[in-house]
Amino acid sequence: MYRLRLWEPGDAERLLSAFAEPGLAWQSPEVPATGEEALAWIGRQRTAAEAGDAFGFAVTDGTGVALGHVQVSVTSRAHDLGWVSYWVHADARGRGAATAAALLVAEYAFAETGLFRLELGHRLNNPASCLVARRAGFRPEGIERQKLHYGDERFDTGTHARLRTDGVAGVPLTACGS
Ligand SMILES: CC(C)(COP(=O)(O)OP(=O)(O)OC[C@H]1O[C@@H](n2cnc3c(N)ncnc32)[C@H](O)[C@@H]1OP(=O)(O)O)[C@@H](O)C(=O)NCCC(=O)NCCS
Repeated sequence: MYRLRLWEPGDAERLLSAFAEPGLAWQSPEVPATGEEALAWIGRQRTAAEAGDAFGFAVTDGTGVALGHVQVSVTSRAHDLGWVSYWVHADARGRGAATAAALLVAEYAFAETGLFRLELGHRLNNPASCLVARRAGFRPEGIERQKLHYGDERFDTGTHARLRTDGVAGVPLTACGS
């Protein structure tokens, strides 16, 4: 059973080991590389939540170990829009953690933050993320050309959204762009 909890200073080493994987670091805007930077990253999660700008959580199972991260950022208060993102530690992938996290963060966002429409986007060559989005009820809405910029490359992006009024089921599990 997966659940979300706030990041804690005791997660700093775990955070560093997650970002030590080049595949994750490559597509992350901030990459903590020292204990101090990891603590600052964790602190920023709390500051952003207190400001009402973004709500980030550690994904855990029964052991309490942080398996990954999921976040909803407020992109427009005027229109009640949020942006969802997630990553899972390399040693915890393929076991449903990201799907559970996306479901839980959507539940949280709709119940606690007043957001109505949650959006997310993935590189077309990231089929695992597309499947996570679809299983969590995020409907595909098309492809945005060259929207995401990682490293030296830009990527066509599958865009998804889930509305507060959408159920989870019924989203086809075919990958965007296929
Ligand atoms: C994408 C990511 C979050 C998925 O996390 P996860 O916990 O492994 O996801 P889940 O286990 O919930 O589901 C992944 C599904 O994709 C499938 N999958 C994995 N690699 C795949 C591939 N190359 N092609 C098709 N499906 C793939 C898995 O088999 C799984 O499906 P299954 O349950 O039917 O076996 C994780 O790989 C990650 O953190 N990647 C780096 C960061 C990232 O890409 N974040 C998303 C940015 S949009």
